[in-house]
Amino acid sequence: MPFKTLDDLPADLTGKTALVRVDLNLPMHEGRASDLTRVEAVKPTILELADKGAKVLLLAHFGRPKGRRHSTMSTSLVQGDLERALDREVMFIPEVAGPVVEQAVGILRPGDIGLLDNVRFWPGEEANDPQFASAVAARGDIYVNDAFSAAHRAHASTEGLAKLLPAFAGRAMERELQALERALGSPEQPVAAVVGGAKVSTKLAVLENLVGRVRHLIIGGGMANTFLAARGVDVGQSLCEHDLTETVIAILNRADSAGCIVHLPYDVLVAKEFAANPPSMRIVNVHEVAPDEMILDIGPQAVEALADVLKTCRTLVWNGPLGAFELPPFDQATVALARTAAALTQDGSLVSVAGGGDTVAALAHAGVADEFTYVSTAGGAFLEWMEGKRLPGVAALTQ
Ligand code: 3PG
Repeated sequence: MPFKTLDDLPADLTGKTALVRVDLNLPMHEGRASDLTRVEAVKPTILELADKGAKVLLLAHFGRPKGRRHSTMSTSLVQGDLERALDREVMFIPEVAGPVVEQAVGILRPGDIGLLDNVRFWPGEEANDPQFASAVAARGDIYVNDAFSAAHRAHASTEGLAKLLPAFAGRAMERELQALERALGSPEQPVAAVVGGAKVSTKLAVLENLVGRVRHLIIGGGMANTFLAARGVDVGQSLCEHDLTETVIAILNRADSAGCIVHLPYDVLVAKEFAANPPSMRIVNVHEVAPDEMILDIGPQAVEALADVLKTCRTLVWNGPLGAFELPPFDQATVALARTAAALTQDGSLVSVAGGGDTVAALAHAGVADEFTYVSTAGGAFLEWMEGKRLPGVAALTQ
């Protein structure tokens, strides 16, 4: 690994304070966190440091308060969830620097855990202000980053602190980077990528990067309609970005010259209304979509062919659903292909890494989120990694 991990720390951290950047940007419902995956992900790091005797100070953002305090975005709102998940007491500290933090650190005993308030309440965080970073760093002896999902931000708590304190990747960060390395860094060949979701425009950089790196590019979701239209298919009322025709043709040409096979559906599920189980639903060849119909999922023959493609691959990277998976039966292609990928992974013939946006929900819906090699809960960071970008939070750990 080109960066230090918790394995590089001494066995006894008594007398040390660890500033640990975690991602507690949890989805909330009626004032309570509705999904604790991110808390569960950082638990091993927090407990390992606490059990080594460090005082653990958790540093996190919550929402986008834009440099001002908002009671609705205080990390105190997730203190209870954190305590339940860790089964330890967590002291809430309503600042991130200065005398209040100093006093709290004085009260904490070795192995105790403190939760600092939302680091984005201070403008210095997003500005990556060195003075702000120094003020935060003053209360710590080491810095641990366990928030891959915030690593695409060059902020004080994700990037600046790594330059001021001895910096280590936490266990969740370490696992994530290992998985991503296996998927696109130095993957076993051949590699397939599934890229779905509504719009090509949000994933242009992803597609441009992937065509040069994978053998099979499987396009699904609304994005596939834009590709089909660029190839002259009449997609009726389907979601489609007609203004991107030239861009899409350029991507297809680049894929051709790089030896990347782009897979578009040849049968599809169409309907006249965007609703669950619409009576107008039918399965047709892509050349038979009526002017008043819209494509809402990939058809069964295409799914079977894609499953055969996956069987020839050793590595799979997946981002985005193949159809309007929130509306049955337009979840079928995503569910079927995800189950094939999961079965191949369980057989040991495929390394499967998925992440970003709706992908986790889609795989959970297919009941296979635990059967992929790795599923990332990162949104923007996962996409930027798929774009081939260097993430500031990761780069800072490797310096
Ligand atoms: C996320 O939820 O994807 C991360 O916490 C990053 O949040 P941000 O997009 O507000 O930086």
